[in-house]
Amino acid sequence: MTNRYDILIYNVRIASMQLNQSPYGALTSNTLGVTDGHITLLTECQTPDELERLQQMSDNVVDGKGQWLLPGFVDCHTHLVYGGNRAEEFEMRLQGASYVEIAQRGGGIKGTVEKTRRADDRTLLNTAIKRAKRLCEEGVTTIEVKSGYGLDLDTELRMLRVAKSLEQHLPVSIQTTYLGAHALPNEFTDNADGYIDFICNDVLPHIASQKLADAVDVFCETIGFSVSQTERVFACAQHYGVPIKAHVEQLSDSKGAVLAAKYGALSVDHIEYLADSDIPMLAQSGTVAVLLPGAFYYLNEVQKPPVDALRAHNVPMALATDFNPGSSPLASILTAINMGCVLFQLTPDEALRGATVHAASALGLQDRGVIDTGKLADLTLWDIETPAELAYCINGHRPTAVYKEGKHV
Ligand code: NIG
Ligand code: FE
Repeated sequence: MTNRYDILIYNVRIASMQLNQSPYGALTSNTLGVTDGHITLLTECQTPDELERLQQMSDNVVDGKGQWLLPGFVDCHTHLVYGGNRAEEFEMRLQGASYVEIAQRGGGIKGTVEKTRRADDRTLLNTAIKRAKRLCEEGVTTIEVKSGYGLDLDTELRMLRVAKSLEQHLPVSIQTTYLGAHALPNEFTDNADGYIDFICNDVLPHIASQKLADAVDVFCETIGFSVSQTERVFACAQHYGVPIKAHVEQLSDSKGAVLAAKYGALSVDHIEYLADSDIPMLAQSGTVAVLLPGAFYYLNEVQKPPVDALRAHNVPMALATDFNPGSSPLASILTAINMGCVLFQLTPDEALRGATVHAASALGLQDRGVIDTGKLADLTLWDIETPAELAYCINGHRPTAVYKEGKHV
């Protein structure tokens, strides 16, 4: 039978990231077939005869030349739709002002809110395309994008729509997250509870009914929202059946992670100040710990996330760029992977799993992030001797080929 496989890739070494015992989930299989965007064959082809027989089953046969095949990267935490930039604040920080002080003076996230509200859809889209393209060039095939720089209904919806529309311009899947509770907008000054009412009564119902977001997120922090305000948003999200993610314990131990675990959150993100004693709850709720070394680096943070304790409790650790204009202007998943190793002492195996299989789990996606039959054929091919090289170099490689749902892009 011809063309049983839309594409057949042979002569590859496969770092499947499957949760098996071998480093990088390496398989003995060296040949992979794709049908209708999914992996439908994984086999070890040993003889020329076997190979010839398989080659006859596809019109599109690729010699992988012994290169490594990995799942496409999943960047599970970004804020890459925004107006303007914060270069001025960077200079202020170099002169001694802290991220928190700048936020308290009305800069920070609120500065970007002003610029995002003023930006038209075309500008937001064009700048977002440029940013997302840089991730795609490194082999990212799924990106999560948060709102949270509009805060009013209209701009939040615009951000979510612009984010989703990136799929029409780049070979990437977009997962959107509504982050209304990112900062308190000026129209609600001294009325944070009123803003939470607005999120729960006016915005979330709209977003849920129109299915504009795949998840809801809250910045639970001294400069963000309190635990009780965060809980109101979580309860409302739960009411509408929208999965929960959370920025917690980034700057202080506010106990947001415990709350997130109680609500069965998909992920808790940042978590530098997470207490060891709160980790068993995350393990129980199956919540993924998303580590964001870009923000840690950029804010000159010294408190490291409790990696040893997370590891000891088998809490899956994901890595992401946190690409945003204030705390992590980092359009590079490969750099985040390297930083995860250098700054947080992840092993290259943990870091690469963190940007693939565990990142997919942090988004509630079980159909990607690993190479296995039945999974999406989001794949990257690398001219390297070992997958560790991707973590060892600082953004030193580019994939020689990227396949999005089986299509070479
Ligand atoms: O993930 N912590 C809150 N939100 C972003 C920062 C956003 C900003 O500074 O613009 C973060 O670090
Ligand atoms: Fe973030």
